[in-house]
Amino acid sequence: MAEHDHKLIHAFGALAELGQEITNKNNFQETIRTSLHLISGAIGIMRGAVARYARFGHELNMLAVRGLGDDFPLSLMLTSEDERQFLTNGLSPIEISQAQALPFFQVHNVSFDKRRLELFVPLVVRDEIVGAIFLGEKATAEPYTKYEKEIICAMGQHIGVAISQRNLMAEIERHAEDNRRMFDEMRSTYHDTVKAFAAAIDCKDKYTEGHSVRVGKFSEIIAMELGWGKDEIEGAAVAGYLHDVGKLTVERKIINAPYRINAKESAELNKHPGVGYDILQPIHHPYTDVPLAAKYHHERLDGRGYPDGLYDREIPFIAKIVTLADSFDAMTTDRPYKARRPAKDVVDDLQKNSGVQFAPELVTAFLAGMLRELKGEDRTKRFRRLLGRDYMEAEGIVDKLKYTLNEMAPTTPMTYIAAAGIGDRSLH
Ligand SMILES: [Fe+2]
Ligand SMILES: [Fe+2]
Repeated sequence: MAEHDHKLIHAFGALAELGQEITNKNNFQETIRTSLHLISGAIGIMRGAVARYARFGHELNMLAVRGLGDDFPLSLMLTSEDERQFLTNGLSPIEISQAQALPFFQVHNVSFDKRRLELFVPLVVRDEIVGAIFLGEKATAEPYTKYEKEIICAMGQHIGVAISQRNLMAEIERHAEDNRRMFDEMRSTYHDTVKAFAAAIDCKDKYTEGHSVRVGKFSEIIAMELGWGKDEIEGAAVAGYLHDVGKLTVERKIINAPYRINAKESAELNKHPGVGYDILQPIHHPYTDVPLAAKYHHERLDGRGYPDGLYDREIPFIAKIVTLADSFDAMTTDRPYKARRPAKDVVDDLQKNSGVQFAPELVTAFLAGMLRELKGEDRTKRFRRLLGRDYMEAEGIVDKLKYTLNEMAPTTPMTYIAAAGIGDRSLH
């Protein structure tokens, strides 16, 4: 008897760990198998099984089977009558020999009898059948005592809760998966819409074809160079794609004017950041403040921009990114009244206007990205693809970038001097 008690204590100790282990999907089956071993060992039973109930299929599916032979069915159906009776019975052992009135036992009578199964314990947790335990006769062939049945109930309770927890986890995972899929779908719809919008904006402006799309890509590059996360990078791209959305309401003849527009026309055109903000503001943008980027992409650090003449720190960071991308595209594409400028000049211009029009940290990040690509350290060819190979590989551009970057952000006086040396050489 002392040994019997010892086994029971051991079994309960092990079962207490069941709840923790159950959250591990891979261990679940293993844990249930162990629990069956523990019950068998504690009571002295040679045969048994633990099943999980599949509510929608009305099936008891075996999770662990011991000593019942290979031909024991791995799945057993319950009728609604069985379900009702088991729910009424609750979590307590049913003597199979005395429950022959139920369809479940009538159907499986021969099979259960052959294996000398004696007890069936429906695992009812929170008014729901989550599984069942089948137990064969005891090794001593004696009937189960009241005390043993109580032990079985307590263990059954534990296993039932474990299965129920596992079911809940699976349901949560399923929901999470559904949400993820829905989110991905919405995300791609959002991006397709953004791109369609950008194409619509660009259609209106025949001289700067593809401007919005390129500004989106340059903004994306800047965000990448800043080391931003995936979502924020996407946000920056979207802000670039949509920055000129307000131009949709500006007259086509002003946008396409093949000359420098007059003051009145200019005032009309300068409304586009505000209009863009009004268009974008009611939309929920998942990652970044896209409407603010549209509103402030013509502001300058020195306060001489429009529409609000904001100074450096008053300008939203995302707008500073788009400003740089926007101006860079304007400088590097042909306009009706102005030809594209050589890359070296553009680098000069960016440096000269750092701290005046552009945020210096963004200029350095952008130029550093360009330099890495030209040095072959970044193989994405982002700049070459957007600006053309010949343009990007113009002579002296690498040295120019090195020199400019060191001038703008020397890491130590030594690198400054060394870079100046490289720059000087390139001039000769
Ligand atoms: Fe603009
Ligand atoms: Fe623009």
